[in-house]
Amino acid sequence: MKIIKTESYNKMSRTAANILSAQVILKSKSVLGLATGSTPVGMYKQLIEWNRKGDVDFSAVTTFNLDEYVGLPANDSNSYSAFMQNMFFNHININPDNVHIPNGMTERVDEECTGYDRQIVEAGGIDIQVLGIGHNGHIGFNEPGVCFMRDTHLVELSESTKEANARFFNGKATVPSCAITMGMGTIMRAKKIVLLCCGKEKAEILKKTIYGDIDPIIPASVLQLHSDVTVIADGPALSAIE
Ligand code: PGA
Repeated sequence: MKIIKTESYNKMSRTAANILSAQVILKSKSVLGLATGSTPVGMYKQLIEWNRKGDVDFSAVTTFNLDEYVGLPANDSNSYSAFMQNMFFNHININPDNVHIPNGMTERVDEECTGYDRQIVEAGGIDIQVLGIGHNGHIGFNEPGVCFMRDTHLVELSESTKEANARFFNGKATVPSCAITMGMGTIMRAKKIVLLCCGKEKAEILKKTIYGDIDPIIPASVLQLHSDVTVIADGPALSAIE
């Protein structure tokens, strides 16, 4: 794994945006794997700015998001679909037909999941997958104890993830209990992975991810087996390592 230490959240965001921009400039039909959560918001803001200036063009780019809650329609303000539209897609020149997010309202979950993986393959595979990391080491909604190397699938959210995400809902009781997520297998097939991490509260989990045992109890630890992972983290997030 390559580790890039940045002096601030803004620098982390700008570095990640630089990597994605370079990818899209070098290959206009790039396939990007994208993440929700608070961590990548600054990266999206930077990319929006460069798109407006004409420095990066998303018109031929295809995207696949990591996950979506089950039971929330795309227009629900708490859905990841709404998050992505508000934070990124509504502000750039991407073709809406090229945007993919699991459909959390499907009645045929298995077909939705296998279809999602098939679409990724048909698009040529993910060139760069952007990841955040949960306090419990989850990636997407691959919670501790997951079977490594699964493809896109239905998951039940852990209590700690519901607690972490309750801030966006009216309390933990209203956080959906299930989600559709790319599995670690889907994620590991991405050609390149960029993991973003900031803040002291993620320091211990980042250390276990990078230097701990490869163990399903820390889903992110499987990233040690990928040949092209870049971790971009601020000083506090790296404070348990140095
Ligand atoms: P965060 O979430 O970016 O809001 O910390 C990351 C995650 O849960 O994957």
